[in-house]
Amino acid sequence: MAKVIASAPGKCILFGEHAVVFGQPAVAVAIEQRITVSLEVLEKANDEWRIDGMKFIASKHPHVKALRSRMWQKRAGAPALSIHITGDIPPASGLGSSAALSVAASACLRAARGRWLCAGGKATKPEDWAEGFSSQLMDTDVYSDVVAEIDPARRMGKNGQGVSHVHGELAIDVDECALLGHAVEAIAQGGRASPMDSSVCAHGGFVLLSDKVETAADWSYTRTLKTPEGDRTWQVHTLPISSEDQDVYLVIGNSGVHAPTSQQVAKVAKAMSQEPQRMKEIETIGVIARRGIEALLKGDFEAVGRAMSENHLMLRGLGVSCQELENLVRAAAPTSLGVKLTGAGGGGCMVALTRNPKQTSEAIELAGGRTLISKLGNTGVRIESHEGLPFWKSVAE
Ligand code: MEV
Repeated sequence: MAKVIASAPGKCILFGEHAVVFGQPAVAVAIEQRITVSLEVLEKANDEWRIDGMKFIASKHPHVKALRSRMWQKRAGAPALSIHITGDIPPASGLGSSAALSVAASACLRAARGRWLCAGGKATKPEDWAEGFSSQLMDTDVYSDVVAEIDPARRMGKNGQGVSHVHGELAIDVDECALLGHAVEAIAQGGRASPMDSSVCAHGGFVLLSDKVETAADWSYTRTLKTPEGDRTWQVHTLPISSEDQDVYLVIGNSGVHAPTSQQVAKVAKAMSQEPQRMKEIETIGVIARRGIEALLKGDFEAVGRAMSENHLMLRGLGVSCQELENLVRAAAPTSLGVKLTGAGGGGCMVALTRNPKQTSEAIELAGGRTLISKLGNTGVRIESHEGLPFWKSVAE
């Protein structure tokens, strides 16, 4: 049987959500909770795609649809697939479930399809690839939702170019998973998405996004996106923080209120265009985030907590909190170093940084929240298992 399974972690934003869409710095950590995607080839040639045992309806799964058009073209010989999605990241709660899904699915597709390399090329060097997408390649353009505009010849393996083939883990490039994850998130969110969720779900650990290269962090790459408000550029970094011997935990409280990210992002965008002077609030979130980053790098978790709580006050002012979140924040505060909503808000989750995860979790549950406990910083996307790879090899266009 041909099968591949990959997983990616969810994320929790410690500082800077919403402001990051406008270029301010933000930090997120990978959490212990993950989404697992498994792909199997359907046996009969005419089989339609299936998802969790049902017919795949593309409009209901925009992320998978967008990935399929980039990596799994029927006209290039790709077989129909059956997809199964499992995991313990609650959907639409600001914990990056859709980015984790997109990143894990992109890893599955790449492992299953493999990658053609140029003569003497190495799988680890994007300039040696005859197909694929990378932040390091100038001709990578994956953000259009108009499928016809995606040039099928663009890094898809041109005649005679691909001379050797790799598949499975060897074909995986974490940046490619992050890039594709960002592209399909942007498409699903009406063109507005920072690469925050997709980068954390792909790389794991701690990720810092900023409008400039930050010397305190390890710079990874530049990411750009045309949004309805204009071109945006982010510098993506990882933060060198070891989560091994920390005695601090995140307790994430889910308000259970469903709040799509796209609506919350659009709400803030509208407020900024109607009252441009409010951009000061976005800038203040940036200042708080920088203070939080400094504290994180020093391992001063008391100061990290204080910055988180200040960040929450700013988010409340922006209008992206709600009564349910406020109740959970208030309940967690007495046993926490800091507490804030996390993600897009309007519902979804809050997060407490605490040395007493059990007590904090009980307090949040008593106030009506469902909790998850996680260490700070976990492994990024990974292939869990595979057999019968590659599922197919792209034919020269
Ligand atoms: C959502 O998890 C975080 C937001 O900043 C949106 C984004 O970065 O795309 C609200």
